[in-house]
Amino acid sequence: MPKLHVTGGTRLSGSVKISGAKNAAVAVIPAALLTEAAVRIENLPNIYDIHVLVKILHSLGVKALWETPSTLLIDPSALSGWQPPYELVKKLRASYYFLGALLGRYGRAVVPVPGGCDLGPRPIDQHIKGLAALGADVAVEHGLINVSAAKLEGANIYLDVVSVGATINIMLAAARAHGRTVIENAAKEPEIVDVANFLNAMGAKIRGAGTDVIRITGVKELGPACHAVIPDRIEAGTYMIAGAATGGNVLLQDVIPKHLDPLTAKLREMNIEVEVADDSIRVIGNTCPLAADIKTFPYPGFPTDMQSLAMVLLTQAEGNSIITENVFEGRFKHVDELKRMGAQIKVEGRTAFVTGKTRLSGAPVKATDLRAGAAFIVAGLIAEGETVISEINHIYRGYENICAKMTALGAQIKETD
Ligand code: UD1
Repeated sequence: MPKLHVTGGTRLSGSVKISGAKNAAVAVIPAALLTEAAVRIENLPNIYDIHVLVKILHSLGVKALWETPSTLLIDPSALSGWQPPYELVKKLRASYYFLGALLGRYGRAVVPVPGGCDLGPRPIDQHIKGLAALGADVAVEHGLINVSAAKLEGANIYLDVVSVGATINIMLAAARAHGRTVIENAAKEPEIVDVANFLNAMGAKIRGAGTDVIRITGVKELGPACHAVIPDRIEAGTYMIAGAATGGNVLLQDVIPKHLDPLTAKLREMNIEVEVADDSIRVIGNTCPLAADIKTFPYPGFPTDMQSLAMVLLTQAEGNSIITENVFEGRFKHVDELKRMGAQIKVEGRTAFVTGKTRLSGAPVKATDLRAGAAFIVAGLIAEGETVISEINHIYRGYENICAKMTALGAQIKETD
C-alpha cells in the first residue's frame, strides 16, 4: 500500500489553484440522471470519488466521457438500470444520491447502504423520511435500500436534523415529482445551492436553496444543460491552514471567499493575516497564533470537515483551546494519532481540549478519514523529522493532486509504495 512521507520544517509559499468542490460534484453527477438529455459538467475535481461515480454511471448503461480532465459529458439516454453495484457503492457515502436521482427518473432505485468516512453513526433516516413523504415505499433489508413509487407527489417535509445529504436527495426526487415540495430546516451549504443551480439549468423549478426553506415545483421532464461546479471550500481551507500553520504565505486562486468566511474569521481571531480579494485569498502565517475555541455547526457555522485541520493549527497556539464537535459524534478519531506526534489533546465526549504550543515530531500515522488524512499532512509539515502516513487512499478520495500542489508550495512530500 502506498504511503506519504512528509518532512517538516518548510514554510509554504506561492500560489495554489483550487479544484471543483467534491461535495457538490458527487451530487451533480447522479443528478444528471434526472434528464434524458446530454449534459456537460465542468470544473470537476480529478479525485477518486468522482472516478468511482463515473464507473457507477457506466454500470447503469450511461455514456460518460471525459472531454478534458475536468469536463465530463454525460448522456443518460441509455440508462438501463436502477441498482448501482455494491462493490462501487460501498466506496463512497455520496452514492446515496442515486436514491433520489433514480427515484425521480424511474420511480425505482435499489442502492446498497453506502460507505464513506467513518465519523461515527451516520443514519439516513431523514433521507428515508423525505422520500417516503414524496410517496415512495422504502424498505431497508439485506444491506439494500429499496425505494419505489408509482407516482411521486410533492409534500411538506420538515427535517429533524439539518442534513446536507437528505436536503439534496429530497431535492433530486422532488424535481420531477408531481406538484410542490417544501423542505423546511433544510441545510444551507453552498454545495446545495450548486446542485439546485444545475437542476434549474436543466429546467427544474427550485427556489430558496441556500436558505432553510427550499421550494420545489416538480416538472415533467428535464433537458440538456452545461454547468461548472463551484470551487472546493474545504480544499481551499486545507491550504489556508497549511499556510497558516507553517508560518507561510500562500495565495489561493479560484475560490469564492464568501464560502470561507467561517474559517477566515477564525484565523483572524487567531492573529493570522488573511487578505481577501474577489476570487482569491492570501494567508500569511504566524508561527505563534493565538489560542481559540471552535464549535462546528452546519453552514454558515465552522465546518466539521475543517475540524481536524484546525486542531493541528491549535497545537501551535500558545495556551488552551477548546473544540466542540456538534455535527458528528465520532469525529475525534484523529486525536490519538496527533498525540503520537506529541500533541497535547484531551477528549471528553464531543469536546477536545488542546494545550499549546507543542513541538510535534514526525511519526507513522494512519489516515483515519479523508480530512484527518489531510490534517496529518499539515501536522507533518510542522513536525520535526519525517511523518509517514498510511491508508492514504482516504486522502485521494477528496484531494486533487495534493502531493503536486503541496510540492509546488515548497512542501517536502512524496509518495512511496
Ligand atoms: C455531508 C458532507 C460531509 C460533511 C457533512 C456535514 C458530502 C458528500 N459529505 O455529509 O463532508 O462533513 O455533510 O457538513 O456532501 N443525520 C441524521 N439523519 C440523516 C442524515 C444525517 O441523523 O438522515 C445526521 C448525521 O449523523 C450528522 C448530521 O445529521 O450528525 C449531519 O449529517 P449530513 O449533513 O447529512 O452529512 P452528510 O450529508 O453525510
